[in-house]
This record gives sequence, C-alpha cells and structure tokens, in this order.
Amino acid sequence: MSIINKVLSRSQIYLGMMDNVPKADKSFHKKIIRLQEGCHNEIEQKRGEKMAYSEEKLLEEKVFKDPVHRYVHVRDRVIWDLIGTKEFQRLRRIKQLGTTFLTFHGAEHSRFNHSLGVYEIVRRIADDVFEGRPGWSHDERLLSLCAALLHDLGHGPFSHSFEKVFQLDHEYFTQAIILGDTEVNAVLSRVGDDFPKNVAEVIAKTYQNKLVISLISSQIDADRMDYLQRDAYFTGVSYGHFDMERILRVMRPREDQVVIKKSGMHAVEDYIMSRYQMYWQVYFHPVTRSAEVILTKILHRAKALHEQYYSFKSHPVHFYSMFEEEVTLEDYLKLDESVILYYFQMWQEEDDLILSDLCRRFMNRNLFKYAEFDPAKEYKKLAELSILFDKAGMDPEYYLVVDSSSDLPYDFYRPGEEEERLPIHLLMKSGEIRELSRESEIVDAISGKRRTDHKLYYPIDFICDDSSAKEIKRKIRKLLDIDESKVH
Ligand code: NI
Repeated sequence: MSIINKVLSRSQIYLGMMDNVPKADKSFHKKIIRLQEGCHNEIEQKRGEKMAYSEEKLLEEKVFKDPVHRYVHVRDRVIWDLIGTKEFQRLRRIKQLGTTFLTFHGAEHSRFNHSLGVYEIVRRIADDVFEGRPGWSHDERLLSLCAALLHDLGHGPFSHSFEKVFQLDHEYFTQAIILGDTEVNAVLSRVGDDFPKNVAEVIAKTYQNKLVISLISSQIDADRMDYLQRDAYFTGVSYGHFDMERILRVMRPREDQVVIKKSGMHAVEDYIMSRYQMYWQVYFHPVTRSAEVILTKILHRAKALHEQYYSFKSHPVHFYSMFEEEVTLEDYLKLDESVILYYFQMWQEEDDLILSDLCRRFMNRNLFKYAEFDPAKEYKKLAELSILFDKAGMDPEYYLVVDSSSDLPYDFYRPGEEEERLPIHLLMKSGEIRELSRESEIVDAISGKRRTDHKLYYPIDFICDDSSAKEIKRKIRKLLDIDESKVH
C-alpha cells in the first residue's frame, strides 16, 4: 500500500468515528486530520519534487562535440548536473591510457572523454533500441545512464602503477565517491534515497537487474565499445575499428542479459578481433610497458625513501597518506596527473641518485630497452644478471625488471574458474539463444586461449657506458645479447 492510501484510509476511519465522540474531541480529531493531511501533502510534495528531478529535461538539449560519436547528447537534468560536479570534472585531468602517450603521442585523451562516450552509447541503446521492447523497463533508463557516466569515477592518476605500489583500488574509490559526502552523491540523492546505492551496485555488478549490469560490464558492453574506438582514434592505429552502429541495431534485451541477433554476428566477430589487436598493438606495447615500469619504480623508490626518513627537497605532501597506506577519500580526490607530474619534475633535482635518475628518464622519455624473457627457462640468467648489475652499481631492484602481460580475448562461461565471464549470446531466428563461439569459427579459434608475454627491461645507456665497471658491463652485454658496437 502506498503512503497516500495509508493516510487516506486512516483519515476515513477518523471521519467515521467522529459521530460518536464528544464535541471537544471532534475539533481535536479535525486537528489530527489537518495535521495528517499537511504531513501527507508534504510527503507528496517531496516525492513529487524527486519524481520531477529524475524526469526533468533541460530546456534545450546540450551537446558535446565528440570525435568518436560525433555528438554526445544530454537532455536529462540529472546527467547535466553530474557532469558539472567537481569529482567528474577531475577526470579531465586523468588520461585514459596512462603512459601510452609516450609511445603514441596522440593518446592524450582523458577519462572524461571516455566516460561521456560510454554514457552516449548506453543512451542510444536505451532510447533508440530498447525503449518499448519487452524485457526493458523505462524505469531503469536513468540508472543505466548514471552508472555508464560514473563507471570510471574512482580512477586515479596512472591508476595501474599507483594501485600496484600503494595497494589502492579504483573500484573501491568509485563506490566511495558515489556513496560518500560528495557533489556526485548530492545529485544522485536528489533522484531518490536509494538511487546512489543502486548506481553503486550496477557498477559493482551486484544490482538485481543483470540486464542493466551487462550494458556496462560484459564481454560486449558500452565501456569496451567506447574505449576500443576512442583509443584507436587517438593513437592513430588502424585496428580497433568495428561497426558499432550495426551492433547497436541488433542488440536486444532478454531477461537478464543483452543478446545479439544472429544477423549481427560478423560485426561482433570484428569487434572481438579488434579488441585482440588493440591489446597487443596498443595496450601492451613494450615501450608503454617500459614507461610503466619506470613509473612504478619511481613510486617504489619514493616510498622506500620515505620509510628510511629521507629528507626530500620537495616534500611530497600529496603522497604522505599513500606512503602510510591510509588514503582518505579527501586525499584521493586531490590527486590527478598534473599533481604527480609536478613531483616527478621536482624530484629530478633530488640528491637520491636513483629517484632523480628515474624521474629524468620518465620526464625526458629516456626509457628502458627490453629483451624477450622466458621465466621458466631463464631464471638462472636473471639471477646471474642481478649479481652483475649489483656489482656494476645498478641496483637490480630498480634497473632490471621483468614485466608480464596477459590477455584472454574471449571466453565462454566456465563456472568456478578464476575469471568467470558471461559469454556473448546470439539470438537465433527460432528464438533460441546460442553462445557465440558455437556459431562463429573465428571466435571459436581464440576462445579461452590466454596469451602471455614476458619482457626483461634494463637501461641500455648505463650498460653501454664503459667509463666504469667495464669488464662487468661487457659480461652483462653478452648475457643480454647487446651488440658491442653500441658501447660508448
Ligand atoms: Ni571505462
């Protein structure tokens, strides 16, 4: 029973009782009714206001010019207000691809761009494809749009390295921003008391309606569809392109998941292949990984120095809570890539030779070189190299680094496995649902096949500088198969 009905039926009871009560009591009862009605009106007004806010449209549609989707359209007041919050604006100062700009100089786009893009894809699915179809409820529309817009809200600067070194988790911070004392939370709470919680649950993949979750995180979701195209556009590579228009047209809501009409299978094959190519050609590019290795080592070194009570010339005030592993939401929101690069710039002047050298390398793009490395067969060589590096005055902890990348391009559902994945399902003409790799030979060929790659990173300039530890460095060069002609 709704609150209005409850209040109404109670009022009727009071009215009915009034014939049998004394006069003085009658006015008392009228007072109660008035009070109840007043309260009821207030509740209604409050509910009405909330209803109105969730449905409120801007007088004129706002558009963002976007190189991937041409335009990002905003009509909903809630979305417009969320974009204006300081926590969302912070994403402008965090690059989508971290250190990739040192390999592909165009890759300067931010998480702000990507988040708007994911929102736009979900908006198009909801408004142009799903609206009015069985299995889709209009009530989930705004929730889906907000979750799409905010799904990466908790990412910090150079997330990958920071999370590794300081045990941070961007998913935790996404939840904390949505549920905490923030401008984002204030906007979401105006929609409804449970609304921030629902948005957080969609992003955490615990929301009851799995269809909504699958729009934002599944093996074919708005997040991936946006970043593959956007990263391809900004890096300038020719991989990463696929026919998204086609995929959107053939998406259908089906109980707890998005399914793809069989007629769109080839567009999905193309999408999976472009994802595979992007991982190996862009995301795991060995030069980007080299920059990532150096960045990680800078953070390790700064943390180690702090633990040794080293006195920094430039006090890393923004880092203290991370060094102590006690990062509050307030501290976290102050971090962005401009802050971090400021410290790297300053630390080039530090007395600690490792920290200043690593920062100079990062700022001036004097990265480590690499060799293929097989950890199963070459662990002895690594141990030998480690000793030689130490003898030559290059701390192997910072200057001899094995880095591994691994990707599983597509997998069908394997319950109980470490990386359980919801498969992509095709909707056959008969209405039957079939898992993609059972229909597509191309996808079948790569299903469940994990590819892993290990590389050994080292500073070739140090190794080829014969002004010190000449003999030891010669041995190192031999082990790493470096041509003697590079020696100076
Ligand atoms: Ni994303």
